[in-house]
Amino acid sequence: MQTSTDFIVIGSGVAGLRAALELANGGRVTVLTKDRLDESNTEYAQGGVAVALSDDDEIDLHVEDTLIAGAGLCDETAVRVLVEEGPRYITELIEWGAQFDREGGELAFTREAAHSRRRILHAHGDSTGREIVRALIAAAKKHPNIQLTAHAATIGLTVENGRCVGVQFIDPSESLRREVFARAVVLATGGAGQLFAQTTNPSVATGDGMAMAYAAGAMMCDLEFVQFHPTVLALAGAPRFLLSEALRGEGAILRNHDGEAFAKRYDERGELAPRDIVARAIVAEAQRTNQNCMFLDLTHLDAGFLRERFPKIFETCLRYGLDMAKDLLPVSPAVHYVMGGVRTDTHGRTTLPGLYAAGEVACTGVHGANRLASNSLLEGLVFGARAGAAALGDALPSPAKAESEPIEFDLSDWRLDQRTKARVQELMWWKVGLLRRAEELQSAVAELTQLAEEKINRRTRNFVTLARLMAEAALWREESRGGHYREDFPARDDKHWQVHSAQSLNQPIQSIARISEA
Ligand code: FAD
Ligand code: SIN
Repeated sequence: MQTSTDFIVIGSGVAGLRAALELANGGRVTVLTKDRLDESNTEYAQGGVAVALSDDDEIDLHVEDTLIAGAGLCDETAVRVLVEEGPRYITELIEWGAQFDREGGELAFTREAAHSRRRILHAHGDSTGREIVRALIAAAKKHPNIQLTAHAATIGLTVENGRCVGVQFIDPSESLRREVFARAVVLATGGAGQLFAQTTNPSVATGDGMAMAYAAGAMMCDLEFVQFHPTVLALAGAPRFLLSEALRGEGAILRNHDGEAFAKRYDERGELAPRDIVARAIVAEAQRTNQNCMFLDLTHLDAGFLRERFPKIFETCLRYGLDMAKDLLPVSPAVHYVMGGVRTDTHGRTTLPGLYAAGEVACTGVHGANRLASNSLLEGLVFGARAGAAALGDALPSPAKAESEPIEFDLSDWRLDQRTKARVQELMWWKVGLLRRAEELQSAVAELTQLAEEKINRRTRNFVTLARLMAEAALWREESRGGHYREDFPARDDKHWQVHSAQSLNQPIQSIARISEA
């Protein structure tokens, strides 16, 4: 394969593909992705993409909803960039061929929790991510400067004289380790839901990019903020399949085992309260009634409407013996999104020169302590493009070196040790989960520190290290806010904690006032 290039993008979700299309304006771009091109969190996105484009919407309302969901920790500059530039990038995506659902020829907008307007565009009902990936891959394949390389796992970032100058990856065709140099590197490796036993994220979401960036010296921020999606199918033998928030946006009701609609008892916004509140309400109601799950009720909605509006969810439920129009759907929360990540400014620059980050791997401060539903596909487009543009503008005139000779690579050095992975996932779920307490967090940190000292390969150590960083950040923040809830500190404490956690290699955790001043 051809590896001599100008720019490297790691990951082929919405952020990586959009960054690649921007970089291609200024040189050859190699996109390395560890699985199939279309295997990513983006591919599974259901509900849609939030954008202030409808006639009754306003930029300021979308900004306000995002800031409220973010619980006092959003970086307002980043939020304004997201919301103000969003319409332009969505319009561009439509020009590139993305087909969002329409009603009478006009774009159709749905509602999701904590949005004050119907502002969510969707595609094929509930397969929005797949349509976005399809359109972006088609655009990238057409571009002569972009080389898309599937099944090429990046295993490390090469840093020389304090600058990221390239990456090491496993060649897809042979058991070889290659090192390729570039004028700039964009990290778009997505999230880390796989750190937890219960997650909506596919198996590729193991946080590789976060761990590699940390190991290379980049600063991580806000890792304590983990979003749990409230309504994930809870059926023995079935995967943790997402039951989109858009179902509640269209009128689905949460019921307990007695059939009582309970959500309004926990928050006056009921089913449409922010995700963290709905997730905790489900857990509290389950505990109060001594049950493992609650139910999502759509039986009052028209069967034809449900089948047409949510075809993928309808079919998937049927496969597990549930007819959405007739049956209550068992649900409980699962880990869905990590708000924290590699610290960047609003142009995707990390604290490590030469390295840019965009999408779920990055922390721009745009989501604060809790992401507003459907803001992350938009984030991938807007900040993917901005990271690409900045990387292009700041880049070295040429790569630091020519590619070195590939070397034999033992694939077992890269495979995630399954025993350790399962231990970490259970530990994170039970001790660093939706409801946290100091004793359990301390025990998680101790166990993860010990695990990292065991004889494990580099990748497994990365996985364990990222889990430890999350547990340490969760222990550090002695308050509750957004996606971080401490039973021992249940109140939000703006006086002491309206700050961000910052973690860097070989340094104690510290607080910083703003993300985007990187
Ligand atoms: P991803 O789309 O996850 O892409 C990451 C890429 O990096 C993948 O191609 C992966 O294979 C690759 N990669 C990872 N590690 C390596 C490595 N070591 N080497 C090479 N490549 C690597 N958000 C919304 O806004 N609206 C929604 O409706 C919505 N629904 C969702 C539904 C589900 C089930 C899930 C899981 C998430 C949903 N989200 C939604 C969140 C959203 O999909 C993601 O946050 C967003 O798509 C992330 O995009 P990304 O490009 O940053 O990462
Ligand atoms: C959903 O469809 O509920 C997911 C939306 C999101 O995560 O933004």
